[in-house]
Amino acid sequence: RDGETAPTPQHTQDRTAEEQHDADDYSGGIPEFRNEPDTNPALEANQRWAEDVVERATPEWLAGQSLPQRLDAAEVDSLVADARSAAEQWAARPATDRAAILYRAADIMASRRGHLASIAAAEVGKSVAQSDPEISEAIDFLRYYAHRAVELEQVEHAVFTPDRLVLITPPWNFPLAIPAGGTAAGLAVGAAVIHKPSSPTPHCSMALLECLWDAGVPREVLHGVFPDESEAGQKLISHDGVDRVILTGASETAALFRSWKPELNINAETSGKDALIVTPAADRDLAVADLVRSAFGHAGQKCSAASLGILVGSVAHSERFRRQLVDAASSLVVDWPQNLSATVGPLTELPSEKLTRALTTLEPGESWLLEPKQLDDTGRLWSPGIKAGVKPGSFFHLTEVFGPVLGLMEAEDLEEAIELQNAVDYGLTGGIHSLEPAEVEQWLDQVQVGNAYVNRGITGAIVQRQPFGGWKKSSVGLGSKAGGPNYLMLLGTWSDAYGTE
Ligand code: ALA
Repeated sequence: RDGETAPTPQHTQDRTAEEQHDADDYSGGIPEFRNEPDTNPALEANQRWAEDVVERATPEWLAGQSLPQRLDAAEVDSLVADARSAAEQWAARPATDRAAILYRAADIMASRRGHLASIAAAEVGKSVAQSDPEISEAIDFLRYYAHRAVELEQVEHAVFTPDRLVLITPPWNFPLAIPAGGTAAGLAVGAAVIHKPSSPTPHCSMALLECLWDAGVPREVLHGVFPDESEAGQKLISHDGVDRVILTGASETAALFRSWKPELNINAETSGKDALIVTPAADRDLAVADLVRSAFGHAGQKCSAASLGILVGSVAHSERFRRQLVDAASSLVVDWPQNLSATVGPLTELPSEKLTRALTTLEPGESWLLEPKQLDDTGRLWSPGIKAGVKPGSFFHLTEVFGPVLGLMEAEDLEEAIELQNAVDYGLTGGIHSLEPAEVEQWLDQVQVGNAYVNRGITGAIVQRQPFGGWKKSSVGLGSKAGGPNYLMLLGTWSDAYGTE
């Protein structure tokens, strides 16, 4: 992030509603876009702030926070009709009005950073170290899409007609940033938005929507609903009055939605099975740090996580490299967010069948360099695991497991490494560590991923700088990338300004 150029927030407490009321209303226009800086954990005031964040995050406190409205199947038709009709006025306002509201919402979000971090800690056990950059990203999405919407309105020789009603179905692993992105995109273009939280994270979604309502998004335009049973959810998703569904989740979920309504207009960022290649020309110390951070950050529960390390030539045979990797992974502190030194937190839910297999079983040819251990009786806290000898075409090579396990594969040369990386059905993120320009060029030419990172970790895309999205099975109907310049153009239809005259 902009650590060098932007001021570091120094939190003593969140702003009160009155203080917020006096803040900038952006009626004179919105300022230039810049990425919101993360909190500097080295400042003493911020350490006290982080202690407050986790101290407050108790189950009792969470139970007192607001939840989305329950939605019964019988209420779906009227919700959709009301939202569509409210969208008419919202879309008729100048884009600069909507942009000003989104900027205000971003400011409110920044002023509630501690509150949002407490909700994420209490609801899913997210550490402050992980939620803090996520909140910056959520703020960035609001401001960035505000700018893009103003630009969209100025396009000449073509008319953009925004969707009337967009349904957002976000994931639980980034319960603040990803819901903020889809919701802000819909609102920015002038659509009404129905926001259906992921079932483990309704409080996170609600805290986000409250920032938007408090900034002036009309209640009739933005709805947070929690469908009562699967019937209401299915009815909502396949409703003809919903113009588009924005999903971030598993490929299976996208397929399920499509099975309910084959002609569904869906933009989905789905699963990944992401690899980082390390060649003999790498800075190996940097490669170790990036592999470990990308594999085990948020306990590996990121679609962008490094699930595979593909080691080339002498790196594959280097005892020293393996030892460094194991040392680095073993030094991570695994604990609940109340322990501010923890770098790896709990799983959001009990391990799935696939993750259980990855955590507890070795496939033929594999061995543990570092065996994962269940650390408490909740079943959600696991120490990192590293398995060597993952074979081409095996379960671990091809399956997304979404947890704290890194698999190592070996390749004779870069060509073979790229083949192994491209052999998976998904194509979300990928990386190479090499200081040899010819290798990097070859890799960039051949790798089949949406986000290709060179000499960097493969998680933590920054809005505007690293637009995020995949190809192959990692994306359904998505022609553009979240946090990138063209994302909003997807949320509507285009016609030639002169076409019908
Ligand atoms: N956008 C998230 C990342 O880049 C998923 O890690």
